[in-house]
Amino acid sequence: MGAVAAPWKQLLLNALDSNSHLKHSSFFQLATVGSNGRPSNRTVVFRGFQENSDNIQINTDTRSRKIEELKKCPFAEICWYFTESWEQFRISGRIDVIDGSNPDSVKLQVTMNSIPPTLHACSLLTA
Ligand SMILES: Cc1cc2nc3c(=O)[nH]c(=O)nc-3n(C[C@H](O)[C@H](O)[C@H](O)COP(=O)(O)O)c2cc1C
Repeated sequence: MGAVAAPWKQLLLNALDSNSHLKHSSFFQLATVGSNGRPSNRTVVFRGFQENSDNIQINTDTRSRKIEELKKCPFAEICWYFTESWEQFRISGRIDVIDGSNPDSVKLQVTMNSIPPTLHACSLLTA
């Protein structure tokens, strides 16, 4: 029997679907904890879900600062805003760095395993 999908996964898939005509809808912000204990935030590209899981995948560079930061603290939060549907998703979790999965040795795959309670979804309302 397969694992039960996280409750937010279908909401996120719906948002991706309804915003799919907008190229920027695959970008989200990934915040980690900097080596000085301060927030460290950047934009990354959604690379899909790991097969049969809720794990969100991104690709990055072994030399990037985020990899150093994740070695010290593997916890992170995603903030993803969809401009067409006016929805924001904040997903927090632990990041696993997967090495050797890419033929380019400089590239790494990073997956985000959510930790419940994990989703703070909201829609912006106009006045
Ligand atoms: C639109 C956009 C998409 C980006 N996508 C990625 C990405 O998928 N992976 C990545 O490592 N960096 C991506 N970057 C660059 C990051 O925002 C960041 O500058 C870089 O990863 C270095 O961050 P770090 O020093 O905190 O590790 C993207 C930047 C922009 C503006």
